[in-house]
Amino acid sequence: MNTIFDPASLVREDIKTLVPYDAPYYASVTKLDANENPYPFPAGVMARIYEEMSTLDFNRYPDPMSVKLRERLAVYTGVSPDKIMVGNGSDELILSIMLTYGTGAKIAVATPTFAMYGLQGRIAGAEMIDVPRLGDFQIDAAALKRAADLPGVKIVFICTPNNPTGNIVPRDVTEDIIRHTNSIVVVDEAYGEFGGDSCIPLLDRYPNLIVLRTFSKAFGLAGLRVGYLLAGRSIISGLLKVKQPFNLNAFSQTAARVVMENLQPFQERVGKILEERDRFFSELSAVPGVETFPTQANFVLFRTPLPAQEVYSGLLKRGLLIRSMESPALNRCLRVSVGTAEENKLFLEKLCEILAQTSLG
Ligand SMILES: Cc1ncc(COP(=O)(O)O)c(C=O)c1O
Repeated sequence: MNTIFDPASLVREDIKTLVPYDAPYYASVTKLDANENPYPFPAGVMARIYEEMSTLDFNRYPDPMSVKLRERLAVYTGVSPDKIMVGNGSDELILSIMLTYGTGAKIAVATPTFAMYGLQGRIAGAEMIDVPRLGDFQIDAAALKRAADLPGVKIVFICTPNNPTGNIVPRDVTEDIIRHTNSIVVVDEAYGEFGGDSCIPLLDRYPNLIVLRTFSKAFGLAGLRVGYLLAGRSIISGLLKVKQPFNLNAFSQTAARVVMENLQPFQERVGKILEERDRFFSELSAVPGVETFPTQANFVLFRTPLPAQEVYSGLLKRGLLIRSMESPALNRCLRVSVGTAEENKLFLEKLCEILAQTSLG
């Protein structure tokens, strides 16, 4: 018999308390919350993409294996196409990893870090084990190795440069963990174009390594959702079991490939972002009461004398969106993306205004 009931009661027991990822969307704010590339997409590359778009058959499904894009990625990374998988953003690939290896298993994560590992892990029905970073946000390699050896642990997640702390994990430290564990080690290099040494050269030696990358940051394609991962054939064939057949649409495949064929304007933009980051970092560090944490990425984590939420709301009221990172490990901390020189200037002005008002009051 069909009676009126609340379908909420049918939601999986283990995700009833899950809080969805919070990605506030405002039509007209200065966006410094998502570590995107702040510069306009290069006009010449855009024109080339549109040209190629006009040849696409929109009535046909896209290439399920994104062959042409993977061929270009092979040139960029030096890894053969059969060891490359692309996804609808690296978010999708994180979920695929969780669904392939994590369901019913345990996953060790060096925290604080990117929130999606915890969310996707729980969505896949995995149990997350947080391995807290040390006081200076370096990973606790010994603790991670111990966690990786616990019964039931199948994956270890390391982010470098780490979101939101900005610091890197030296490659030899990561290699030591990969070598001493029977788990899969995922090294998320979403910000790899901005700093740190890549673990790609380790792929030939370690079949338990996955390197995760994205087009959303250095390559300015966040809106088109393209990520990729590099791993040995055994891992790729495992992941193919859960991959959605047409996970990357034809438009995004084409745009990402054209980007790979035109690297120069993106490399120039990365150079500009790094220059601006260093200037911005010094200025933010000089704001009285603000503590900054050294960064090798395109964002800065900082602590203020005020509760993070107060600074966040004050900035939003003034038309600027950043990210509050408030948590026991990141008390009074916020993360701001490196924007253009004008955006960063505006941010510093408004931040100083908020801090000055409160110290007066
Ligand atoms: C560390 C890290 N990994 C992955 C992602 C997700 O990137 P994508 O846009 O490719 O899904 C982000 C996005 O902020 C990130 O910070």
